[in-house]
Amino acid sequence: MAANSQGVAAVLADLKGLDFLSSADLNVEQILALLELSRQLKSGERRIDLGNRVLGLIFTKASTRTRVSFQVAMARLGGQTVDLNPQLTQLGRGEPLEDTARVLSRFCDVIAVRTFAQQELIDYAHWASIPVLNALTDLEHPCQALADFLTMQEAFGELPGQTLAYVGDGNNVAHSLMLCGALLGVSVRIGCPKGFEPLPEVVNQARNLAVADASIEVISDPLAAVRGAQALYTDVWASMGQEQEQLEREKAFRGFCLNEDMLAEADPHAIVLHCLPAHRGEEISPGVIEGGSSRIFDQAENRLHVQQALLAAVLGGL
Ligand code: CP
Ligand code: NVA
Repeated sequence: MAANSQGVAAVLADLKGLDFLSSADLNVEQILALLELSRQLKSGERRIDLGNRVLGLIFTKASTRTRVSFQVAMARLGGQTVDLNPQLTQLGRGEPLEDTARVLSRFCDVIAVRTFAQQELIDYAHWASIPVLNALTDLEHPCQALADFLTMQEAFGELPGQTLAYVGDGNNVAHSLMLCGALLGVSVRIGCPKGFEPLPEVVNQARNLAVADASIEVISDPLAAVRGAQALYTDVWASMGQEQEQLEREKAFRGFCLNEDMLAEADPHAIVLHCLPAHRGEEISPGVIEGGSSRIFDQAENRLHVQQALLAAVLGGL
C-alpha cells in the first residue's frame, strides 16, 4: 500500500492524462493510492492547489451528489467547473459528440460525463484530448465505488477478506462494486431476483480480476446473500431511464428490501451503505437508513474526497 505522500504521488503519476471510464481502468495500487490521498485530503493532512484548471460537466441525467461533489472538489483544488447542461448547449440541438468533445478539449482541462450508454462515454474519451471521467452510465458508476470502499476502509481498516453484500438490482452501481471490490480483495455478493442479475460479462470480468481469495457471487435468496457480511448495500430498484418499469419492479423486488430482518443476518458490526437517492420503504427501510449501522451520509461525503483525489491525479497535480 502506497501509504506515504511520496509513494502515493509516485503511483498516481501514472494516471496523469488518463480517462476513468470503468472501475477496471485502475489497478489495486492505484485504487489504494487514491483512497489514501482521499483520506489525507479529508483529514486536512494534505492540500492541493492545481491553479486555475477547469472541469466541464456534461450531465444528461439528474444528479445532486456527483454534480455538487465534483464542483466542490474542483473549487477546493483552486479550479473551476463549467456546467455544460445539454439542454442549454448545442448538444441538445444535435451537434455531434465528436465536435463537442474536440471543442471542449480546447477550453477545459478535464470532463466528467453522466449519460446512458457506456459507448457514448467511450466516444467522448476517443474524441477528447483531455481526461474524461465516468460520472455514471447505465453500465457503471466507478466514482461511487471509490467512495464506497473508502467508507468501508474507514469502518474496518484493511479491505481484503471483507464481504460486501449488495441487495437489489444488478445495475451500474452493482457492476462497479463487483469490479472495484474484486481488485481490492473484497468478496462481493449480489442478492437479486431472477431476471435482474448483473451482466454476465461484468460478473466474469470481476471474477477474473479478483485477488486475495475474493469471490464474486450472484444469489437469488436475499437473506443468504447478506449472511455474515460486513457491509450491506442497496440502490433504487428502478434506475434513471427505467421509471416506466417502477410498478413491475416493485413486484419483482418484493423481499429484497434492506430492512431490520436482513440486517440481523449480517455480521453484528456490519455497516449499511446506499449510494442515494433512496426510496424509504422500497429498497431500504426507514429504520435501517436512519439506524446506528448506517454510514450512508459518510459515504455521500466521501464522494467529494475521492473525486478530489481523482481530479488531482488525472490533472497531474501531485
Ligand atoms: N449517488 C449519486 O451518484 O447521486 P446523484 O445521482 O445525486 O449524483
Ligand atoms: N442506479 C442508480 C444510481 C443513481 C446514483 C441510477 O442509475 O439511477
